[in-house]
This record gives sequence, C-alpha cells and structure tokens, in this order.
Amino acid sequence: MKIFIDTANLEDIKKWYEAGIVDGVTTNPTHLSKEGASPKEQIMKICSIVAKGTVSVEVTEQEPEAIYRQAKEIAALAGNVVVKIPCHVDYFPVINKLSAEDVAINATLVFSLTQALAAAKLGVTYISPFIGRCNDIGIDGIDLLGQICHVMHGHEFDSKVLAASLRTVHQLQEAIDTGADIATVPVAVLEKSLTHPLLTVGIERFNRDWQKLGVKQFP
Ligand code: E4P
Repeated sequence: MKIFIDTANLEDIKKWYEAGIVDGVTTNPTHLSKEGASPKEQIMKICSIVAKGTVSVEVTEQEPEAIYRQAKEIAALAGNVVVKIPCHVDYFPVINKLSAEDVAINATLVFSLTQALAAAKLGVTYISPFIGRCNDIGIDGIDLLGQICHVMHGHEFDSKVLAASLRTVHQLQEAIDTGADIATVPVAVLEKSLTHPLLTVGIERFNRDWQKLGVKQFP
C-alpha cells in the first residue's frame, strides 16, 4: 500500500519523502494558494523532489475543451505528473480522450460508487473518494471506500483506489484497514499517526536502564 502526502509545502514534502515512507504527493488549488509561490514553479520543484513518485496536479479550467488543453500542458510539466480532473459527467469525454492519449489522470471529488465505476471505465490511474467530505454531510466515507475497493479489486480494472480527504488518524487507519491502494494524508495527520505515548516511554525507559551500566562505548 502507498502513502501520499496531501500538501504543496516544499519543506514538508522534502522531509517526508526523504524519510522513505511517502510514495507521492497530491496537491490541489487550495494547497497551492496557501504556498503563495508561482504554482508552476512550485509544481516543478515538487516533481523534482518526488523523483520516483507521482505528483497529482489539479486542472483549474471549467470548460471541457479548456480542461483538455490545460491537462495536456500540466502533463507536460514533468514525467511524474498525474492530472487531477473532477469526476463530473461533463468531463467524461475529455477524460476518455486524455486516457486514450496515455495522460495519467486522478479522478478527483468522487462521492459515489457509480462515479468510481465510471472513472475506472474511463481508464484513470487513480480514483479519489473524498472520505472526510462525505462524513461532513452525514455519509459514511469509509463505507463508500469499502464499496469502491470491493468493486475495483473484484474486477479487472487497472485504476488504483486513492483514499483522500482523510482528516484524522482514525480515518487513516480505517482507510488502510479497508484496503485502499493508496491513502493521501495531511502532514499533521501522518505525524500524529506515527507517534505513540508508549513509544516515548519505552525509549526513555531503555535509556535510563542503559545509563545504569555506565558503559562509555558500545559495541
Ligand atoms: C486529495 O486529493 C485532496 O486534495 C484532499 O484530500 C482534500 O481534502 P479536504 O477535504 O480535507 O480538503
């Protein structure tokens, strides 16, 4: 299973990619607007840091033809870019055309099983169900993720299920347990998920006991 981080912050991306547990990055217009830099330059820098992973970059145009052109330009930025396109029926012909032209696509803003099935049929690389945003309106996001994983993994689709909009450690752990191919998480959630009070206590206790020996060099 892969872990992506959901951010456009260079410092965080560098730190976690170099730590060896992050396989890719998902950005969106909200993340890029927080960084304030030129979005194109920011994306180019992210792509060069995450040299062996993918970087999802969202289209910002609204009309299908404009989305098509912008998607091609985004895809040309770097070899590891995946173009994020909202999974809206109006964009299906564009997604279909881009897929046929081997443009890697992340179908974003997925909130239903039928949207996910449509994305898979269109040949996208990633299908991104938004768990937290489902929960926000009283729909069980993890339940939806389970249904999507069941269908995708039970049939011969190549698309990977990318659990997105995960806001808590519990949601991340549920996404892992549910069988998502990838989970993308904000850095704060990733950090929190890797800390444990017993870990800190355990390190301190071993260190205290070791000091009692008074050994200066080991081994
Ligand atoms: C993923 O691709 C999205 O950028 C992200 O997970 C959205 O998360 P949010 O619903 O917390 O904004």
